[in-house]
Amino acid sequence: MNRESPHADSFDAALRDAAVGYMPGFGNDFETEALPGALPQGRNSPQRVNYGLYAEQLSGTPFTAPRGQNERTWCYRIRPSVKHTGRFSRVELPYFKSAPCIEDHVQSLGQYRWDPVAIPEEPTTFLTGMRTMTTAGDVNTQVGLAIHYYLCTAPMVDEYVYSADSEFLIVPQTGGLEVFTELGRMEVRPLEICIVPRGMVFRVKPLDGPARGFVCENYGAKFDLPGRGPIGANCLANPRDFKTPVAAYEDVERPSTLYVKWCGQFHVTEIGHSPLDVVAWHGNYAPCKYDLRTFSPVGAILFDHPDPSIFTVLTAPSGVEGTANIDFVIFPPRWLPAEDTFRPPWYHKNIMSEFMGNVTGEYDAKPQGFVPGGMSLHNMMLPHGPDAEAFEKASSVELKPQKLEDTMAFMFETRFPQHLTHFAAHEAPMQDDYVDCWAGLEKKFDGTPGLK
Ligand SMILES: [Fe+2]
Repeated sequence: MNRESPHADSFDAALRDAAVGYMPGFGNDFETEALPGALPQGRNSPQRVNYGLYAEQLSGTPFTAPRGQNERTWCYRIRPSVKHTGRFSRVELPYFKSAPCIEDHVQSLGQYRWDPVAIPEEPTTFLTGMRTMTTAGDVNTQVGLAIHYYLCTAPMVDEYVYSADSEFLIVPQTGGLEVFTELGRMEVRPLEICIVPRGMVFRVKPLDGPARGFVCENYGAKFDLPGRGPIGANCLANPRDFKTPVAAYEDVERPSTLYVKWCGQFHVTEIGHSPLDVVAWHGNYAPCKYDLRTFSPVGAILFDHPDPSIFTVLTAPSGVEGTANIDFVIFPPRWLPAEDTFRPPWYHKNIMSEFMGNVTGEYDAKPQGFVPGGMSLHNMMLPHGPDAEAFEKASSVELKPQKLEDTMAFMFETRFPQHLTHFAAHEAPMQDDYVDCWAGLEKKFDGTPGLK
């Protein structure tokens, strides 16, 4: 590998992944065992399981879901999950909100942008450091989403969590995370993402110092790969680049706390051991990670540019075809060769609502102000587009093939209007002057022909 190659970072990531252990493929039917012979062969539920393990099925879809969508995993574990819960008591995580969350004294209509949220000095875990920015839909009807900013400076020690409400799409921006799930251990760093399915127990610790990033909590149907249509069988996010962890377990007997998120409420239950006790498993309902640098973008090669849906990594359907509950879209490094074309995103007004975050670098529609760790929201049917500086530059620059380097912004786009939380509206570092970025756009029309 040429160390100057743009793929060198990705190569390093692949080496690290090889050390942790993953299986390639998206939605595959995987099988893995941490001890030899722990996984029953040719059957799911033998009378007795090797090593004295308990067999248990985790269902990600109703039993009768169509074959192509049906997801479940068989786990062979030290204790059945029913031993991982006792009595529940309610607990408050005041910054971790669920939809519907429409608050007094919070205005959601407007174009909004935020500076990065500072990482606090005091210890915060992935749970206590979760700061919800927006919510949409209704967690009780499994529709919509919540978008969070996490600030993680401390590991969850003998603490575990699962969400009955949602799958978690985690997008690190600063610092790596170890995400240790029931089905295995993942390491996820900036420019990578991971998915933890609904109902799966996990815990998180920062890998290399304070960490922050974004979480899209999907209340609806699972994320899937988008159809490619005429693009064909390759490019965009290729299935083999998704990686599911091999089985890993803890045989730990210590007082432990399990948090359960259920219908927007948090509960705790005290147990005497780690619930991460799955020694072997097989099935297709599993966590995965993905390196955004392996996304193969497709775009304009002569003039104009396609809709940004061309950059969709994952889509979570809503039940109406082509109308996503959530699209996860990225803006990766890429060449811009188009001739006689306004190359940044065009001005538009969208029935979908768009929450953006910047992982690294400069975003071409907003060269100033949308910085790494920053966020923006362009809500349903609110016009937006390049700022005045970007417009003037893109309208007059001599067009040569140009490469956008060292850039990675993303968008969580949903069919539902997003509501700001009190934190997003009043505590997060909102840029009060954001709308002024369009103030310099002047009227050029004077009724006479010609390019102005
Ligand atoms: Fe947009």
